[in-house]
Parts: sequence; C-alpha cells; structure tokens
Amino acid sequence: MADQDAHNTVGAEPPALPSLRWEEPPEGPVLVLLDQTRLPTEEVELVCTDVPALVQAIQTLAVRGAPLLGLAGAYGVALAARRGFDVDEAAAQLSGARPTAVNLGYGVRRAAAAHRTACEKGADEEGAAAAALEAARELHRQDAAASAAMAGHGLALLDELLPGGGHRILTHCNTGALVSGGEGTAFAVALAAHRVGRLRRLWVDETRPLLQGSRLTAYEAARRGMAYTLLTDNAAGSLFAAGEVDAVLIGADRIAADGSVANKVGSYPLAVLAKYHHVPFLVVAPLTTVDLGTPDGAAIEVEQRSGLEVTELTGAFSAAGVEGGSGLPVAPLGTQAYNPAFDVTPPELVTAIVTEEGAVSPVTGTGLAELCARSRRV
Ligand code: MRU
Repeated sequence: MADQDAHNTVGAEPPALPSLRWEEPPEGPVLVLLDQTRLPTEEVELVCTDVPALVQAIQTLAVRGAPLLGLAGAYGVALAARRGFDVDEAAAQLSGARPTAVNLGYGVRRAAAAHRTACEKGADEEGAAAAALEAARELHRQDAAASAAMAGHGLALLDELLPGGGHRILTHCNTGALVSGGEGTAFAVALAAHRVGRLRRLWVDETRPLLQGSRLTAYEAARRGMAYTLLTDNAAGSLFAAGEVDAVLIGADRIAADGSVANKVGSYPLAVLAKYHHVPFLVVAPLTTVDLGTPDGAAIEVEQRSGLEVTELTGAFSAAGVEGGSGLPVAPLGTQAYNPAFDVTPPELVTAIVTEEGAVSPVTGTGLAELCARSRRV
C-alpha cells in the first residue's frame, strides 16, 4: 500500500496548476492545455489553434472533468470566432465532443450566445469575437469563485457530520485544480480540510480504466503535501468494512432535476457501500453541473468509450489506445469490453449535494430546484 504519511504537513503552497489558459502570440490566439494524458510523468502543454484540435483533446481526455470541459467549450467558441471560423459549426462540434458532462454544452452556449448578441447589436467580427472571449473569461472567474465557495460549504458540512475531526475521506476520479478554473470540487473540500489540519487521510481510488485517480488525484495530493493512500477500486469494500472511511466525496458530470448524479464509473458502487456502512456520501459540484432539463437519471446519456481502454494498458495513457490498439494487451485479442465512462447514482443514496450556493440535504428535486432558483446562473 502506498502510504504518504511523510507528506502529512501543510507547507508552502505550490504554484497553481495551469490546466487551461488563453494566449495571444503574434501568430494568432491559441488555447493552451496541460495535457492530462501525459501526467503524472510529464507536464506537457498542448497548444490548440483550432476547434478540431480542441475536440480531439476533449475526446482523448487531454482536457477533461466537467467544469474544465465547460471552460474548454467556451474558449473553443472564442477561438473559432477569433480565427474567423463558423461559430455555429464550431459550437456544434464542441458540444458533441462528449455527451455526459452538461458543463461542456453550457460553456459553449454561453460563449456562442455572447457572440450572437454582439452580432445582433451590430458588432463587427472582431467585436463579436471579443464578446465570446469575455464570456469565456467570465465563466472562468465564476468557476474559480464557485470552487472556493464549495470548499467552504463542504468543509462546514463535513465538520457538522463528523464532529470528531480528523476526517478520512474516500474520493474517486479526479476533481481538483486539473478540472477547474479554481481548486476543483470534491478535492477542493479535502484540500480545505488539509489546510486546517483536519484531513487525516485521503483515500484515492485508482479509477479504472483511465486511472484519473492514480495519475491525477495522487499527483495533485502529492503536490499539496496531503496525507493520501492509493487503492484499487475493488479494494474500497474492505476499506469500508474495516471502518477506515468517514465520508465519500465525489464530483459530478451531470445532476438531473430529481438529484440523480452522473459521475465517473465506479461512483455508484461507492454510494451503495456508503449506504450499507452508514457513511456520508457527498457530491460536490457547481450549479453549472445541475441540469434541470434532464428529469432523472435514466434520461442522462452515459458515454460509452472504446473497449481498448479496458483490454489494453496504453489506453490509460495516450490517444494511441483509443484509436488503434497499440498498447499492452491485458485480455485475449478480440475480447469485447463493457466500458461506460460514467454511472448514475440515485438521489436516495446521496447524503448531500454541495454547491457554491450551499448544500441540499436530503437530496430532492424540490430542494435542488430551490437552490438553483437562488442563482441567476442556472
Ligand atoms: O472522463 P472524465 O475524466 O472527464 O470524468 C471526470 C469525472 O467523472 C469527474 O469526477 C467529474 O467531471 C467531476 S470533476 C469536478
């Protein structure tokens, strides 16, 4: 077991993780992404000069995670506008790149609407592109602010649910600065607990098949000097049985109107385990992830990904596995694999949904609608 007790100190903060940024070199504007397929071994940037390159980065998970997909979508529209491409066509390509995270379409729509409004008001091409870029930047700032607010609300709720302090938190997938304009969603809550000395341990699910937990969350936890331990997803049950988990914290890709939560595959089994073991199961997500237009969990489209990500190991690390089967085989050639990228947890298994506007608990459609009504952004 990889035990990181030596890191259990709050030291100097490392520099912010530049998961995505807009740049304007003389050759023209670009969107620069930290290529998440290369982490943790290499910190390599990917420079997108057009929408097809960005769509490929989204589909290969070089850029990923719901809030960051929203930002990528918004900046993608701005990129298309600035480079003189058809904005409607770019918006359609970006929105269709992955189906489950509602933030992607939301970010695209926001920037495209700003562009359209500017055009309707008589702006020229440059002015309309500037409006799309400002919309992307505004979403970026809002996402960072939402992260900070969720961290505060989430920590307060944890302290209320677990008055003894010294929280042992289990998390799944990656929900930190890599997926956000700020410090993330669920991970930001664990980080806030760490900063005030109340994180006893962060249990990090490896997150098969693409290893967002071991490659990305462990990377972020190590950077932050947090006490973390990595486990294979199927070891979670024995960890609960041993009484080693005080709370589960996950993010979300889409929250339906009834409070059903789509998140990385493997989240639902954790919710079942948490219920059985009477452990709080908390979902931390900005209101941009709530989709009141999707009535329930059954209506959420779950992305099905290439079976090569399961039958070969390279699939976890590079686009090569997604496209061509050049990885190390871990199953007989030709094996069919079931590879949904997400699963759906019903509201009755969720203790609370924590947003930047506060928490909903118990999780009901009415409670969620009331919380959304408080925000002008939904
Ligand atoms: O397929 P991914 O890596 O994009 O999936 C990401 C997740 O499932 C995250 O848990 C979710 O987007 C929440 S991130 C705040």
